[in-house]
Amino acid sequence: MILVSGGAGYVGSHCVKQLLQRGYEVMVFDNLSEGRREAVLTERFVQADLLDREALNRAFAEYSIDAVMHFAGLIKVGESVDDPQVYYQNNVVGTLNLLQTMHKHGVDRMIFSSSAAVYGDPAVIPIPESHPKRPKNPYGKTKWMVEQLLEDYAHAYGLRSISLRYFNAAGCDPAGELGENHHPETHLIPIVLDAALGRRECITIFGTDYDTPDGTCLRDYIHVNDLAEAHILTLEALKKGCASSAYNLGIGRGYSVREVIDVCRQVTGREIPLEEGKRRPGDPPQLIADPTCIQKDLGWQPRFTELDEIVSTAWEWRSKA
Ligand code: UFG
Repeated sequence: MILVSGGAGYVGSHCVKQLLQRGYEVMVFDNLSEGRREAVLTERFVQADLLDREALNRAFAEYSIDAVMHFAGLIKVGESVDDPQVYYQNNVVGTLNLLQTMHKHGVDRMIFSSSAAVYGDPAVIPIPESHPKRPKNPYGKTKWMVEQLLEDYAHAYGLRSISLRYFNAAGCDPAGELGENHHPETHLIPIVLDAALGRRECITIFGTDYDTPDGTCLRDYIHVNDLAEAHILTLEALKKGCASSAYNLGIGRGYSVREVIDVCRQVTGREIPLEEGKRRPGDPPQLIADPTCIQKDLGWQPRFTELDEIVSTAWEWRSKA
């Protein structure tokens, strides 16, 4: 049985679906602070918080857990700057509680949702895993702290883990069952699609004076199902006994904010009013992955390699939500 923390959230719920499709037994542990009950596709569900050690203990006692996929965590960069203690409490202390419970119950494999935010401002593009880790905000610091915790757990207790450093997760379940639903929404593609649907007046481009080809930031958008596929390959690798490590997860190609808006116009066939605004503090001009390690080691290949395919799946879900 795989315990999926945060399995009611955006990436977690998509991974649960793929695990179930591959015949894995899955239980979801989620406090529903961000996730949605209807996105939990397994009957085995515990609504509880990682800060509740009793609840964690009970879940591990009740289910026979083989490995953990750990998605639960707070993800808003700006909020983490304004209220860091909540981020350290949830993302670091919560993960430590989870690791302690795993250790106590003899569960020794974890896949951790890390982030490109561990790198901070990139010194080279594309970014390899060996790039210095200089996270610029508490959110990125919590992700890097957990990666370091995991390294120590591997040395001391033999708890093996793989950290997956997501670049920009995007798109939705092509079958339309699951989607991206953050409150409030801060991510570019859903916001642009809301502007196309008339749910927002316009999209504001955060900065048009970057040192990039069209002056707007470049990001590496990876389809959520390709992320899910990487989690399954990682789970299988850990089962076969591979050592702890960390991998980038992006497709290795950057799209500018203007390009994303243009692709959204093509896919939706709608007007998308835009305004040019100021830079958002803390945004690096470019974040593009070098994904060759996971491709070489685990044979991972993204299926969604074009942004219009990714946006189409997001549009399919959002226009009906
Ligand atoms: N953007 C706009 N207007 C908006 C929203 C976003 O111009 O209304 C721009 C941002 O400035 C950025 C790009 O669109 O240049 C993408 O922004 P997102 O907020 O969608 O994503 P980020 O790249 O900021 O963040 C993502 C993850 C974070 C993670 C970060 C670094 O969502 O969790 O990558 O890994 F921390």
